[in-house]
Amino acid sequence: MYLVLSFILAYLIGSIPSGVWIGQLFYHKDIRQYGSHNIGTTNAYRTLGPVGGTIVLVLDILKGTLGASLPVLFGYTEHWLILIVGLAAVLGHTCSIFIGFKGGKAVATSAGIALAYNPPFFLIACAIFFGLVVLTSMVSIASTVGMGLITLVSLFYHDWLLSSVAFVLWIVFLVRHRENFARIKNGTENMVPFGLGYYR
Ligand code: G3P
Repeated sequence: MYLVLSFILAYLIGSIPSGVWIGQLFYHKDIRQYGSHNIGTTNAYRTLGPVGGTIVLVLDILKGTLGASLPVLFGYTEHWLILIVGLAAVLGHTCSIFIGFKGGKAVATSAGIALAYNPPFFLIACAIFFGLVVLTSMVSIASTVGMGLITLVSLFYHDWLLSSVAFVLWIVFLVRHRENFARIKNGTENMVPFGLGYYR
């Protein structure tokens, strides 16, 4: 019973459109009307600035961490449930009940699952991601290529469920970044104002 409740609550927590609500509440801006039109952290930085972007980043990570941790909070001892219930939070973030079943690209919320499941793995994933941001200056490339690399790194853990969930999330990332790939192809993808790609 509590397991079903975990899935439902994780979906609802994941559904909270932090970027949209923070933008509307504190900046009187709907970030869906600006930049890449995405509701996630990168577009929040772009549209709301570093403070708003950081708040959205933290909230989006916490959605994954809290959603994934619900089975633990309800007393389940099976650690692997974190990964499965975490996927419900990602589903909420990408298909949010609060914004017409639209949503973001799943990056920060997925990171939140890793934080709940295995903090050292989360840190490795962050290092890969930020390394790629610095190399390419494109968060979309860092997210999609990074998730592929993170899936490969997960193989060293000999944890088939971790690798399977990482692979599923990689597919989700690739599908959700289709518009970014089109922009990369025609040379109009947004860049962050730092890193090797930016100063090339
Ligand atoms: O936060 C998702 C990131 O990978 C790309 O975001 O806004 O540049 O499409 P954006």
